[in-house]
Amino acid sequence: MQWTGLNELREKYLNFFESKGHLRLGSFPLVPKDDPSLLLINSGMAPMKKWFLGQEEPPRHRVTTCQKCIRTPDIERVGITARHGCFFEMLGNFSFQDYFKDEAIPWAWEFLTRVLEIPAEKLYISVYLDDDEAYDIWTKKIGIPEDHMVRFGKEDNFWEHGSGPCGPCSEIYYDRGEKYGCGKPTCGVGCDCDRYMEVWNLVFSQYDSDGKGTYTRLPRPNIDTGMGLERLAVVMQDVNNLFEVDTVAAVLHHVERIAGKTYGDNEKDDVSIRVITDHIRATVFMASDGILPSNEGRGYVMRRLLRRAARHGRMLGINRPFLTELVDTVIESSEAGYPELREHEAYIKKVIGTEEERFYKTIDSGLNILNGMIDHLKGVKEKVLSGVDAFKLNDTFGFPLDLTKEIAAEAGVAVDEAAFRVEMTKQRERARAERLAKDISGWSADLFGELDADPTTFDGYEVLRESAKVLAVSDGEELNDAVSTDYEAREGVLVVLDRTPFYAEMGGQVADHGYLTNSNAKLKVNQVKKTPKGYFVHTCTLLDGTIRVGDTVTAAVDEKRRMAICRNHTATHLLQKALREVLGDHVHQAGSYQDDRITRFDFTHFSAVTPEELAQVEEKVNEKIFESLPVVIQNLPIEEAKKMGAMALFGEKYGSVVRVVDAGGWSTEFCGGTHVKNTAQIGCFKILSESSVAAGIRRVEATTAFGVLGLLNERTAELEQAAVALKANNMKDVPARAEAMAAELKETGKQLEIAKAKLASAEIDGLFENAAVVDGIRIVTVYANGTSPDTLRNMLDKLRDKAPDAVGALIGSTGGKTTLAVGVGKVALARGLKAGVLVKKIAAIAGGNGGGKSDFAMAGIRDVSKIDDALHAVEGIVKEELEKAN
Ligand code: ALA
Repeated sequence: MQWTGLNELREKYLNFFESKGHLRLGSFPLVPKDDPSLLLINSGMAPMKKWFLGQEEPPRHRVTTCQKCIRTPDIERVGITARHGCFFEMLGNFSFQDYFKDEAIPWAWEFLTRVLEIPAEKLYISVYLDDDEAYDIWTKKIGIPEDHMVRFGKEDNFWEHGSGPCGPCSEIYYDRGEKYGCGKPTCGVGCDCDRYMEVWNLVFSQYDSDGKGTYTRLPRPNIDTGMGLERLAVVMQDVNNLFEVDTVAAVLHHVERIAGKTYGDNEKDDVSIRVITDHIRATVFMASDGILPSNEGRGYVMRRLLRRAARHGRMLGINRPFLTELVDTVIESSEAGYPELREHEAYIKKVIGTEEERFYKTIDSGLNILNGMIDHLKGVKEKVLSGVDAFKLNDTFGFPLDLTKEIAAEAGVAVDEAAFRVEMTKQRERARAERLAKDISGWSADLFGELDADPTTFDGYEVLRESAKVLAVSDGEELNDAVSTDYEAREGVLVVLDRTPFYAEMGGQVADHGYLTNSNAKLKVNQVKKTPKGYFVHTCTLLDGTIRVGDTVTAAVDEKRRMAICRNHTATHLLQKALREVLGDHVHQAGSYQDDRITRFDFTHFSAVTPEELAQVEEKVNEKIFESLPVVIQNLPIEEAKKMGAMALFGEKYGSVVRVVDAGGWSTEFCGGTHVKNTAQIGCFKILSESSVAAGIRRVEATTAFGVLGLLNERTAELEQAAVALKANNMKDVPARAEAMAAELKETGKQLEIAKAKLASAEIDGLFENAAVVDGIRIVTVYANGTSPDTLRNMLDKLRDKAPDAVGALIGSTGGKTTLAVGVGKVALARGLKAGVLVKKIAAIAGGNGGGKSDFAMAGIRDVSKIDDALHAVEGIVKEELEKAN
C-alpha cells in the first residue's frame, strides 16, 4: 500500500465505482433541499432520500459521490481532541433498488485490498447481530477468517440519522497497530481507543424510519455506503489523525505561519490551531453554498464557528483579522473536488471577512468584560454567570451564547441559560413594541386600547366594498361620539370599523385608499393601520357631514389603486424567485415595499448585481408573467407550507397556520399581502434601479404595467425633446446625431484651444507696447479687472517663455479679491532679480503682503486705491534691486 494524496484517493474511489456501472455525481450543496429534518447535509445519502424511498426517479440506479458534510453535535469538543472535525468528506456508492449485499460487500473488499492494496490481515469486519447473510458473504465468499469478524447490536451496527432510509450495517475496520492501542486485555474491534479505526460503513438500507421508532420495510432494499475520506487518508498516509492528512495539514500549516507557532509544541496552542483549521474549512464550504452568518439555524452554526475560530486566533496571539487569508489555502487544497470554491472565491472572502471584522471590533472589550464577570465569581462555590450578563455579551459584543458558555466553562463557570433566553425574549418584545409604536405614530396607540369591541374583521382579500359599522371615531386627539366638518374639510379624523375591505399597511405593502360614505358623511381614507389589539384605524379627511359612532357606512376601496398594488406585490414574489435563480440561494428578503407605483426589494447579496444579471432577472420575471401562471392562495399548517418549499421571511416567527401565496408552483412564499389572480394581470415588469443599502444588502426597484407604460411615455417625451434640441428629423436619428454632435464639439474645442493660444500670445505681445526698459530688463505692468489669480499665473508663464529678459507685475481682481503676481524671466533671474522679493516691495505700497519663489510670486492687495501707485513703483524697485545685485 502506497502513500496517496487525499484528492487522488477521492478520484480513485469514484473511478472504481464508475467502472462498476455507477453514475458519478458532484457533491450536493450543504444546504438540504426540501428536508426540514436536517440543518446541514451530514452524510452521502442525506440529499438522496427520495431516491432511496422510491419517491423520485434517480438519474441512474447506481450512483457514486464524494459528499461535503458537516456534523455539529458538539462543536465545543472539536479541536480539544484530534479525532473530530465538523467538516469532512464522505465517499459513497449507492444502489437505489438495484444491487444489494452480494455486490456491495465484494466491491468494498476489492477496492480496499486490490485498488488501495491494504493488506487483508489488517482489516476487521463487523455485522449486525442476526445478519447471517452478510456474515456468510464475508466469511464464505470473501474468505475472512472468523477471528476477524464480530457481531454488534443496534447501537453500533444499525444506521439511522433522523428520519428516512435506514437499516442494519456492516463496518470495515483497519488495525493501526499496537502503538495506537490502549493495551487493555479487552482491546479489540469496537474498543474506544485509536487502534481499530472504522473506515467504511456499508448500510443495507431496507427500512423507512419516521424518526419516532416506526420502521416500514421498503419494497426493495438499497445500498448506502459511507467512507470518511479523511479517515481513509489517515490510513493511506500513515499519519496520526485527520489534521495530519495532506489537504488538512496544508491549512494547519498556514495557521502555524500566521500565528508564528509550531504545531506540537504545546497542547493549548495545538487546540487553537486545530479549532481554526477545522472551522475555516467548514465555513469556507458553508459560504460557498450561500449560507450567511446569522442568529438562527445554519447561519447561527456558521456564526458560532467563525467567532470561535476568531477567538482562538486571539488565544494564539494573532492580533488582526486573519481568517480570510486562510481561505486561499482551503480553496487550493480542495478545489480539485469542489470547483465551486474557486468560482465563489471573492464571495467567500467577503462573507467571512465581513463577519470577522464585525466580531473583531468588539471581541477584546467583550473578552475583558467576560473575564471581569468571571473574576467576580471568585470564591463563590457554585459559579454561575447570570442570564443578564450572558445577554449583555451577546447583545453588545456579539458573543453567541455557546461561545460564552465555552469560555465560562474553561474557568469552571456555568451559564444560566434559561435566564438568558428570558432576556432574549424580553428584547424581542421590546423591539416589537418599538416597531409598533413607530408604525402607529401620528396618533396614539392607546387611543383605541380601551374599546369594548371585537377586533376589526378584514374582508379585503375577498371584497373591495362592503357595509360596516363605526365602532369608534376620533378627531385625532381623543375619542368622540361624533366628528363634524365646520366650514371646510377636516383632516386627521380616525375611524374604527367592525369590518373593513381596507388593507392596513403591513409587511411592506402600503394601505388602501378609498372612501367611507353614508347619507350623512363622506370621508376620504388616506391611511389605514392596525393596532396591536387588531383594530383597523382609518385615517381620513372628513370631506363633508358628520360621522357618528354606531353609524353604518359603505367602505369602498379605490379599486384601480389596489389592483396596481397587487400587481407590484405579486411581481415582488416573482422578483425574489428570479433573483435566487440568477444569483443563488443565498438571496433572502431583507425588506420590501410595495405601493401603486413601484416595488422595492432588499435582499442579501455581497456584490453589485451586474447589468447582465439584472437583464436575466427582468427577463425571467416577464417570462413568468407571459406564461400566465395562476396565483393560488391557501391557509396551511406551517409544516405543510414548509414542505411545499415556501419561502419564509428570514428570522420571522410564524403561527401554526400560515398564508401561502403560490404562483404556478414557481414562486411559493409565506405572505399576508394582496395579489393578482394570475401573473398575466401584472402585464409587464421593468427594473428601475439597483443599489446598495448596507453591507451585504442590495436593493432593486421595479415597476409594472402602467408604471412601465408611464416610464415608456416619459422616456419617449425626453427623446422627442432631445430630437428637437439636436435638430434630428426623427427619434431614431438621435443617437447618431448626438454622436456626430459630440465629435463636432470635440473638434471645435480643439480649434478653440488653438485659437486661444494664438490670442494669448498676441495679448502678451501687446503687453510689451508700453514696456519700460531698465538696464536691459523689460518691465511689463498691467492692471486687469476681472482676472483670476490662475489667469495671472498663466499670463506670466507665457510672458517668461516669450521674454526671458522681462519682469512682469500684473494685478488682477475677481470676487472682491485683488492679487498681484510677479514673474521674472530667465535672463532677468540671472541678473539677480527675485520675484519673491519684488512682490513684497510692490505689494507693500498698496498695503499688501505675499511671497513665492524666485521666478514667480503672488501677494494680496488690500488698498485698491493704491494699485496705480504700486504699478508705477515697479520700475524704481527693479532698478534698486538690479543695483543691489551688481
Ligand atoms: N449513511 C451512512 C453513514 O453516514 C453510510 O455512515
